[in-house]
Amino acid sequence: MSAPARPAQPAPQPPATPAVLLALEGVRKRYNIGLPNEAEVLHGLSFTIGRGEFAALIGPSGSGKSTLLNIVGLLEHMTAGSYRIDGVEMNGLDDATLTLRRRSTLGFVFQFHHLLPAFSALENVTLPALMREGRITPARRERARAVLAAVGLGDAMGKRPGELSGGMQQRVAIARALVLEPPLVLADEPTGNLDTGSADEVFALMRQMHAELKTSFLVVTHDPRLAARCDRVLELVDGRLVRDGATVPERREGREGLVGGS
Ligand SMILES: Nc1ncnc2c1ncn2[C@@H]1O[C@H](COP(=O)(O)OP(=O)(O)OP(=O)(O)O)[C@@H](O)[C@H]1O
Ligand SMILES: [Mg+2]
Repeated sequence: MSAPARPAQPAPQPPATPAVLLALEGVRKRYNIGLPNEAEVLHGLSFTIGRGEFAALIGPSGSGKSTLLNIVGLLEHMTAGSYRIDGVEMNGLDDATLTLRRRSTLGFVFQFHHLLPAFSALENVTLPALMREGRITPARRERARAVLAAVGLGDAMGKRPGELSGGMQQRVAIARALVLEPPLVLADEPTGNLDTGSADEVFALMRQMHAELKTSFLVVTHDPRLAARCDRVLELVDGRLVRDGATVPERREGREGLVGGS
């Protein structure tokens, strides 16, 4: 009789996806270095953002929110500190490498949508694929159509930005940010230019896309109602993190008032 077969070795498992997507440590930003008007605007920020988190970044005007978002978005270099994405250090990488990293990891939504006015909504949403892959395949075009339909613009794909309302333009910008399914979307005042109703709709859409795609979001907002509907709030004052905490779950549905309000 032959010996009983040895139990098969379990197949090696790929490493688990790390829970931490971004890790900043001691990040500083100084402008106009060596000039009389040299100024440090971020003073050693340290925090992490997990996979699938939906976080707000709030703070007074001039506190450094956009500067921080631009550093996290690899659009600006930090002066000192460490910034890792998926464990890979970004500080010190050259611009070409950062650009590739940006295209593979990040989606952006700005206050002013930055859509290309001469192109249709569909063409605008196919642009990230063109930038990243150098061409637009039929599958990419189909995906762009599907995302535009998901943001409620199934009937407006052929329209140019100038033919759409502000809220619709921001929906196109959200579709563009999400079309390649980046792990992180950065939004700088995405509803700052909208009336309250459109702002609520656009924000609800971001939450819906977050729930469906598990994308992490970091959203700069001046609107305490919207901050309360994020899962976590980071607050900057004068380039320092003065608060970092979870919001109250019951308030996230938008049924309640201001953060900390009655
Ligand atoms: N390119 C630059 N050169 C010099 N100083 C700058 C530059 N960009 C921003 N700053 C300064 O850095 C500080 C932070 O600016 P930042 O735009 O990040 O603030 P913010 O929190 O986004 O403000 P807001 O809410 O008004 O958008 C400000 O004092 C600003 O003047
Ligand atoms: Mg700003």
